[in-house]
Amino acid sequence: MTRWLVTGAGGMLGTDLVATLTSRGEPVTGMDRASLDVTDAAAVTDAIAGRRPDVVVNCAAWTAVDDAEASEEQALAVNAGGAANLAAACAALGSRLVQLSTDYVFAGDAGRPYAEDDVPAPRTAYGRTKLAGERAVLDRLPESGYVVRTAWLYGAHGPSFVRTVIKLADQRPTVDVVDDQHGQPTWTADVAAQIIALVHSAAGAGIYHATSSGQTTWFGLAREIFGLLGADPARVRPIPSSALPRPAPRPAYSVLGHHAWADPGVPPIGEWRTALHRAFPELVAAQQAAAAAG
Ligand SMILES: NC(=O)c1ccc[n+]([C@@H]2O[C@H](COP(=O)([O-])OP(=O)(O)OC[C@H]3O[C@@H](n4cnc5c(N)ncnc54)[C@H](OP(=O)(O)O)[C@@H]3O)[C@@H](O)[C@H]2O)c1
Repeated sequence: MTRWLVTGAGGMLGTDLVATLTSRGEPVTGMDRASLDVTDAAAVTDAIAGRRPDVVVNCAAWTAVDDAEASEEQALAVNAGGAANLAAACAALGSRLVQLSTDYVFAGDAGRPYAEDDVPAPRTAYGRTKLAGERAVLDRLPESGYVVRTAWLYGAHGPSFVRTVIKLADQRPTVDVVDDQHGQPTWTADVAAQIIALVHSAAGAGIYHATSSGQTTWFGLAREIFGLLGADPARVRPIPSSALPRPAPRPAYSVLGHHAWADPGVPPIGEWRTALHRAFPELVAAQQAAAAAG
């Protein structure tokens, strides 16, 4: 039986990962930020030494992409320093480590899906700190470190574009959404299942891409959401990214390839639209509960 420890367990992905493991009867300790701050090296060592997990999954992260531009050092402390602390403790105590990462490690200007071994070239502070986290893990754990890159996440336990559109469909006659950024909307429950499949496979250490297959734009995703709500998709109007300047530039092309899964024989996550349809009742319920709570 594999013993799991999940850090950042209070976040959107961490919550779903702990819930999925629990529902499958796998022994898991979920530690949120209050119970384990990953930037505290001594606390990290104590947590891993005390519980002796077979696998640690690091879902803790500084995820405020725009704020990271002005606070790169603080973001680095969590995204790279935290990962390094976990990797050092895992190396000393013999645990495997799964580090979550992001499409933002790439430049976002490719014309074909990014392969796992394509050269990263982050264009944001967030991307730089996440890349440093990847390296901290792979350098310290060449045989037992895994980097799982994901992107465009949505889930029941945190804010996301999908939940925002569900809310706005109720509040506004029209919604303007950028139509020049391409990516793969991905359900946190699918990433959780993918991480579990990775750990239970004979996968070698290294980089894996856990995003849905296919691709769309934020505009295409918003129209799909309106359709699922029974609202008129024509109420969603396309705009260019230049109409919405932000401190951190958004990648125009965030599509990730899934070749690395072939080796361990783990099927990649399926098509984004199918996943959205499966997730939708849960997302609407979560949004309604949030609205009711004020
Ligand atoms: N969301 C996306 O679209 C997306 C896309 C690509 C990659 N990812 C990656 O996927 C992973 C999970 O993301 P998510 O969407 O679940 O993010 P999230 O909801 O923001 O969860 C991150 C969690 O980490 C916690 N945290 C922050 N600093 C910490 C620290 N020093 N020690 C311990 N915990 C700390 C946060 O707690 P507080 O809330 O209290 O700060 C939060 O609960 C991250 O590695 C992220 O970079 C996410």
